[in-house]
Formats: sequence, structure tokens, C-alpha cells
Amino acid sequence: MSANLAGLSYFIRTFGCQMNENDSERIAGLLEAEGAVRAERAEASDIVIVNTCSVRAKAEEKLFSYLGRLSAPAEARGAVVGVVGCTAQVRRTAFWDKPRRLHFVLGPGHYELIPDIVRARRPGRVCVTSRHRQWREWPAGRTRLSDPWSAYVTIMEGCDNFCAYCVVPFARGREKYRPFALILDEIRSLAGRGVREIQLLGQNVNAYRDPGAEGRGLAELLDAVSAQEGVEWIRFLASHPRTFSAEVARAMARNRKVCRQLHLPVQSGSDTVLARMGRGYGRQGYLDKVRQLRDLMPDIQLSADIIVGYPGETDAEFAETLSLLEEVRFANIFSFRYSPRPFTAASRGPDDVPAQVKKARLTAVQALQKAIQAEQHRDFLGRTLTVLLRGRDKRDARGFAGRSEGNQVVNFRSRSEPAGPFVRVRVTGSGPYSLKGERVEPV
Ligand code: 5AD
Ligand code: SF4
Repeated sequence: MSANLAGLSYFIRTFGCQMNENDSERIAGLLEAEGAVRAERAEASDIVIVNTCSVRAKAEEKLFSYLGRLSAPAEARGAVVGVVGCTAQVRRTAFWDKPRRLHFVLGPGHYELIPDIVRARRPGRVCVTSRHRQWREWPAGRTRLSDPWSAYVTIMEGCDNFCAYCVVPFARGREKYRPFALILDEIRSLAGRGVREIQLLGQNVNAYRDPGAEGRGLAELLDAVSAQEGVEWIRFLASHPRTFSAEVARAMARNRKVCRQLHLPVQSGSDTVLARMGRGYGRQGYLDKVRQLRDLMPDIQLSADIIVGYPGETDAEFAETLSLLEEVRFANIFSFRYSPRPFTAASRGPDDVPAQVKKARLTAVQALQKAIQAEQHRDFLGRTLTVLLRGRDKRDARGFAGRSEGNQVVNFRSRSEPAGPFVRVRVTGSGPYSLKGERVEPV
């Protein structure tokens, strides 16, 4: 293996979703294959890469302030600095306007260029943000594993849904599906490296179709990944409620390695808001899918994303979201205030819910969900769960942290250092955001 970047250190700061985390780990793998070593801090590294997210205004604001702090010291020490990811794609020119010393701006799908750009080390600017129409496989390279037992595997990229509020189709482009065989090759290699949990990723995984002749879909992929020796837990995200099919629900149910957990972003409980968002389903349609999943897998833990303050959202429409939370009783939600995003249909109309109203609605959603979670977590007291170890509990010198099959955070004590990856934990305490327990030591 060539070592053209030997002696250089790199640092990657990642904003945004799991897809970005996976891309960052792959970039790290490319750089390490050339001899670069990982640095803990941006301040001391020779190569600084910022992987950006543009899904909400807040993510972008954080990015620009981070770049502001980074730029002058990086320039002073002659570091190579690059911006990649969704904001690089969507706001490409914004990075050139400012007197900042950036060496490259690359949209998703062009990261194989990074080692060459860094090697050239010229203060020139490289900007590549065209979007590919078809899947392009990454060059061979060992994805860096930030967690030795759990890894993301990208199965598709992009989104054709064009929900009225969402920038993703403009950032990641149209849907591109990774060939079935290449997905399985990567999983086989990860399992060989000791990985036990695979999280299949894509912005719209229900649309997955093998681009090969057979056109196999997500259900067949779940069957095939389940057959892979060494893989114990399988998750997949993100699902769209409109295209989440009974076939995939059945594939989950018949494959015991698929975790009893699903992220199914609902966004709103109101039919009229869902229609304005262009989601293609209504409240009842969503509830029907939830019932179907729970009929097949009674212990399944569901989570969702919620947007409050969508344009035109009335008090009555918002109340429908609260009542949906009470009806479904999600294990977890991610809730956001609406913010207009470039190129989207919703951004062409007014952003007319006042900031204080959005804030109050977000608080109300989060308070209700907190109470629901606290109550649901109490039901786990006394139960023994299988937990995938993540590492030490940062707040407890004798404690460890992990995740249950239902994706709940579990903090636990253990008399001996667990060899990992799976441990059994008896739940002895609970709060709204996590469970606490004692490891059931093997006898
Ligand atoms: N404003 C607020 N939240 C948004 N999301 C996507 N676009 C916006 C926006 N313009 C949220 C959705 C999505 C999650 C990833 O981010 O809830 O599911
Ligand atoms: Fe952010 Fe969406 Fe891009 Fe992920 S795909 S980084 S959530 S904008």
C-alpha cells in the first residue's frame, strides 16, 4: 500500500445524519490507507475536513460558526482544509465568497478525490459538486470503524420523494441503488473484522431495488443479510411511511436478527399538514402501518421525526400531532422547528408560524414525549435485556453503556470488564431517556 500521506494527521468533523457519519468513516479509511493518522483535535491536524449537513437552518448556522473559528489558525499552520457533504453541494458558492482559505469543496459522491487533492497540497481550490445519476462504488479501502462491533452500510443514496420542506433531493440527488452483491461483500468483510451489528443506510431505503437484473428489494436484502454468518443484529433507516411495505414488515418478522425497532418518521399527526408537506399518507394510513407492525412484532420499538410550526400549522393541526404521540406511544422521537430550506417547494411560500409559537410547540411535544417515555421505561424494570456494548459510561467510572435491541440507551454496572459485544443486563432503574441496570454475570 502506498503511503503518500505518511506523517500527516487528519481530523474530520461530522455534522448531520448517519449517512454522513458513514461517509466520514470511509474518508478516514481512504486517508489511513495512504498513511495519514487520525488526530483527536482539529487544532493540531494537517488535514481538516468538515462534513456538512443542510437539512435544517440550525445545522448550517453551526457549520458557518465552526468554519469561522477554524479558518485562521488552520491557515496559519498551513493545514489543508476542505468542506464536503450536503451544504457543500447546496451552497457551493457561499464558500468561495468569503475570504477563507479552503482547499476543496466536494459534494457527496466525490470523496475518492480527497487523497489526490491533499497530496497536491496547493492552495488552489477544487470544487466538485455535480450529482451522479447512478451508483458509484467507493474505491477499495477499509472503512474506519469507530465502533468495533457496529457498522453502517450504505445501500442507496438520494431521494425522489421531494417532500415540500426537504433539501435532501437537492443535496444528495436522485435515488441511486448500490448493487446487492457489493452490499453483501462489504457486510461479509465487516463481519470478518468482528462487526456484529449492521445498520443499512439510505435516505429512502424502502425504495431500494438491486440495479442488477433481478431487481431484488429491501425484503430480499434483509433475508440475505440475515443469512450472513457473524451478523447478529440488523437495523435499517430511513423508512418513508408511504412506501414502507407489508412485505418488508414480514421480512422483519421472519428474520430474528432484524432488531425489533423501526424509525418511521411521521412528521405530523394532521392530515392537512401531511398533505401540504406532500407526504403521500394520512394519519390513519400511518396508524394502520403501526398496527400491522405491532401485530407482527408485539415488542417492536418505534421512533419518529416530528416537525412543528410547518407553514400554516394551526393550533388545531398541532393538537393532532400531540394526540398522535399519545396514540402511538413512540419509544423515542426527534423533534424540530420548521425552517425554510433552499430550492424546496415550501420555501417559496411564507414561513408564517411565529418563532415563539414554534418554540412553545416544540416544548409541548418534547414534554409530552418525555412523560410517555418515562412511563414506558418503567415497564422495563426487572426485565433482562440483551445489550450491545458501546463503551464506558462517561459519567460513571465503574459503569458501561450500550444499546438494547429496541435501541434504548442502557447504562449498567458490571463487576468485570465485559469482553463484549453482547451482555445481558437486568434493568433496575429507568428515566425518560435511558435505562439503568446490572450486568447478569455469566456463571
Ligand atoms: N425544517 C425542519 N425540520 C426538517 N427536517 C427536514 N427538513 C426540515 C425542515 N426544513 C427534519 C424531518 C426529517 C429530519 C431528518 O429532519 O423531520 O425527517
Ligand atoms: Fe443532513 Fe440530510 Fe445531508 Fe444527511 S442527507 S447530511 S440529514 S442534509
